[in-house]
Amino acid sequence: MINYGRQLIENDDIKAVIKTLKSDFLTQGSKVSEFEKKINQKFGGKYCCVLSNGTSSLHLLGKALGWKKNDLIATTPISFIASSNCIVNNNATPEFIDIDNKTYLIDPNKLEHKLKKKKIKAVIAVDYAGHPCDWKSLSYLSKKYDFILINDACHSMGSEYFSNKKYAIKYAHFVTQSFHPVKAITTGEGGSVISNDKKIIDKIKLMRSHSMIGNSKKLPWLYNIQTTGQNYRITDIQCALGISQLKKLDRFINERRKIAKFYIDKLKDYEMFTLPTEKENCKHSFHLFPLLIEFNKVKNNRQQVFKRFLKKGIKLQVHYIPIHLQPYYKKNFKINKKELENAEEFYKKEISIPIFPGIKKIQLFKVINELKHIY
Ligand SMILES: Cc1ncc(COP(=O)(O)O)c(C=O)c1O
Repeated sequence: MINYGRQLIENDDIKAVIKTLKSDFLTQGSKVSEFEKKINQKFGGKYCCVLSNGTSSLHLLGKALGWKKNDLIATTPISFIASSNCIVNNNATPEFIDIDNKTYLIDPNKLEHKLKKKKIKAVIAVDYAGHPCDWKSLSYLSKKYDFILINDACHSMGSEYFSNKKYAIKYAHFVTQSFHPVKAITTGEGGSVISNDKKIIDKIKLMRSHSMIGNSKKLPWLYNIQTTGQNYRITDIQCALGISQLKKLDRFINERRKIAKFYIDKLKDYEMFTLPTEKENCKHSFHLFPLLIEFNKVKNNRQQVFKRFLKKGIKLQVHYIPIHLQPYYKKNFKINKKELENAEEFYKKEISIPIFPGIKKIQLFKVINELKHIY
């Protein structure tokens, strides 16, 4: 089965994991801080906290920032549910901002329209599919309207903005990542928060492990709890894999870009397809290859396309059902669908076709061949 995404694990990754399995610490050992250091070196942040996954990273970030009832946090509806569940799980209220219909990213003009009317405490922008948002505009708005800017960069490790691979932390106050197997690099499950704000990262580190404070040399059993916490720790086994995978990030992204180029070359002349584009000064890392299909102009609907592909051993996906259309969000929040028309239009057309390092040429041709048959 060819999935829309998958990991690439090589011999050196396996060796790194085995070495840690044979060491004294499977968790709470030195690999955790070593991985944090490597992440800082790679992405340019001063401080980093690695956690059990991207979802727990977003959750504790909101908690550390003190989000509470009646706080409005703006985000995009075209993302994985975790980027808005973190708002709700911290008792705050999501405010959905529509996407730009060319880039599929949060639209800064529509955000400003909202900012003029409402006080927004923070904005979670998502570099959807691996294409950087308009960070210059978002950062300008963050200063003008005084809100905290978060880059949910779970899709965009390895992307570039104005030739800068460390752009995420240059523009956003906080950056979150995910190391799920479909992402650019993996630790199985894993995530991180990066920031130049030591206080917030320290708070997250504390909450990652039950908020237990204890460092008495005289009374080594003693700990105290000033606030509640979680067990959102990541293991040393996972961090050993992460350290090994991080070395390969640039190679993996080059491979993803080659696959994207192949798809674009083969599909560009078909008018029923809208292909992902790359804005000037942006380097797409193609976590996803979102293909938009005018289903009203082809003989198969989306369900039929999925079924046909599955019969041929290709598992497609949709990224994403707009979050504001989820029953929970519809029931609990006032949503103005008129303001979110681009997101809903995008959803009607989107399918994600396989893209990952290690996919074989013959598999790519199989995908192209099937796509040409839906005419
Ligand atoms: C944009 C985005 N944010 C957050 C997450 C959550 O990450 P994780 O699956 O590691 O919890 C994901 C995962 O798919 C994601 O795509």
